[in-house]
Amino acid sequence: MEKLFRTHTCGNLTQDDIAKEVVISGWVKDIRINKFGIFIDLRDMYGTTQVIIKPDNIHYQEVKNIKVESVLKVIGIVVLRKNKDAKNANDMIEIVATKIEILSRAINLPFTIKNDNTLASEELRLQYRYLDLRRPIMNDNIKFKHRVINCLRTFLNENNFLEIDTPCLTKSTPEGARDFLVPARIQKKYFYALPQSPQIYKQLLMISGIDKYYQIAKCFRDEDFRADRQPEFQQLDLELAFTTSKEIKQIVEKMIINLFKTLKIGDVPKVFPIITYHQAMDCYGSDKPDLRCTCKLINIDIKASEDTFVYKGFIVNDKINETTIKKLVEISNQHGGKTLIIYDLIKKKVIYNVSKTKVNELILIEKMSQIKYNNNNFLIFVYEQQMVANKVMGAIRNFYINDLSKQANHKDFMNNIEKFEFLWIVDWPMFEWEENKWQACHHPFTSPKNPEQILTINNKNLGILIADAYDLVLNGFEIAGGSIRINDYQLQEAIFKLLGLSTTEIDNKFDFFLSAFNYGVPPHGGIAFGLDRLLMILIKSQSIRDTIAFPKNNRGICLLTNSPSKISTEQLAILGLNLKK
Ligand code: AMO
Repeated sequence: MEKLFRTHTCGNLTQDDIAKEVVISGWVKDIRINKFGIFIDLRDMYGTTQVIIKPDNIHYQEVKNIKVESVLKVIGIVVLRKNKDAKNANDMIEIVATKIEILSRAINLPFTIKNDNTLASEELRLQYRYLDLRRPIMNDNIKFKHRVINCLRTFLNENNFLEIDTPCLTKSTPEGARDFLVPARIQKKYFYALPQSPQIYKQLLMISGIDKYYQIAKCFRDEDFRADRQPEFQQLDLELAFTTSKEIKQIVEKMIINLFKTLKIGDVPKVFPIITYHQAMDCYGSDKPDLRCTCKLINIDIKASEDTFVYKGFIVNDKINETTIKKLVEISNQHGGKTLIIYDLIKKKVIYNVSKTKVNELILIEKMSQIKYNNNNFLIFVYEQQMVANKVMGAIRNFYINDLSKQANHKDFMNNIEKFEFLWIVDWPMFEWEENKWQACHHPFTSPKNPEQILTINNKNLGILIADAYDLVLNGFEIAGGSIRINDYQLQEAIFKLLGLSTTEIDNKFDFFLSAFNYGVPPHGGIAFGLDRLLMILIKSQSIRDTIAFPKNNRGICLLTNSPSKISTEQLAILGLNLKK
């Protein structure tokens, strides 16, 4: 006879099944023994059902010593259960077992997993990830991610997008991180690069005549750790031919609104607000401002002694003690600031000043007295170069968002912590000066808003060029980024040159790509969402790892498999990588 593991799941029996003989299989979530028998909560992905093994059952002794998380098959009769705390339909029934089969025995667990809360360290949870994923909260995250991806796919399919996969063993794609490399066995001492994104391939698909492309793509980036980053992550990657940035924003908004409605995630506006990069930096000191906090930075109108220096501040309603001051000075220093001044708006005096530059307190006090402060009591500000002032005050604003939002008496400061605040950031600079050279703010395939400027621009002046690029921000995180692409050979070559690539480098890295520009390139553009990061915000988690089944820790290590790991000298030799030579 064919083996039967279940007629029902552990989640779908109801009072309609009373008196039926059923078969269920699952993990022992909990086990209690009293004079009436052994009570087992049997769990699978769909729910939990109570099973009773009475003392006269032939399996009683065998099951008595079973450990939690062992796997059982139960055959039994469904009976009514008196359960005052019943939350689900199957809490109103239980199964009186007639036969039990132990399918797999568990030993003592490294940590308790039956509840959402666990005292286990994250390292231990990652080492035993398969146990961690059995915890209801983690299990729900995995299910939710599937539903989100499914909903996004359905929307894109219905809107004529084709899902096309692109290679993982490929050439470097410049997205600003280091590449992960894979040695090629056949071509000794040659390497593939794992893609930082499918950017070049999706553009080549547009050149291949595909009109609308998407992919749930794996991306690999070797970069510094952050709570919202993983070395290996998923993008929802889109590209459209004959499009404009306006059309891309509209499609994205429709897709997000559809997602929020279908999965009942929360309220979302019909159109997302848009601000420029410069407005974002000026008002919020950040290129990904959290709009749940309504307070903006203020520019204090005092003539600075040095032309490029500005006074910039943020008003808060908080207690300021030694610890807060220490923290604020630390934030200022971390972002290159040398100053920090705190002005008491009620007592009308400067209560703290670590500025190396002498601030004229009389003028300051006069100016401060004109500031409207409602019920707030302190103005925190710095006196720095414009860019440093923005960065420091943006970080201080974020510090207060994280700190004050947790306190109930600061509800007015945060619009609503539970809200989802989307924001487009547009008009990015094309280039930024970093590590002593000009680098593309997005990537080198991004079109400038005024392409004709490129051919005449002075190399020193690149900072003024504006890109036709857009980022989508959600609650202070960059969840997506994209742009209109260059579709002209000369322009693309000129951008590579402005980025300091020599003709030989252009040939080696991008010859295949540039040569495609000779055969008819449609105007095109696109965007990519960080899927795991988006999920992290939707499930209100602090860590991107909660959204990935098998993530790496903050040193890029998979604690479950212990990778990366060393390989043998024989394997190295096969790859032509004998390190001694
Ligand atoms: P970008 O580099 O902005 O653009 O990446 C798009 C989005 O991917 C997410 N993301 C990450 N998520 C987790 N871990 C990481 N290490 C990580 N790095 C990025 C972010 C980001 O907004 N090819 C372009 C897209 C385009 O131009 O169409 C690209 O990859 O949410």
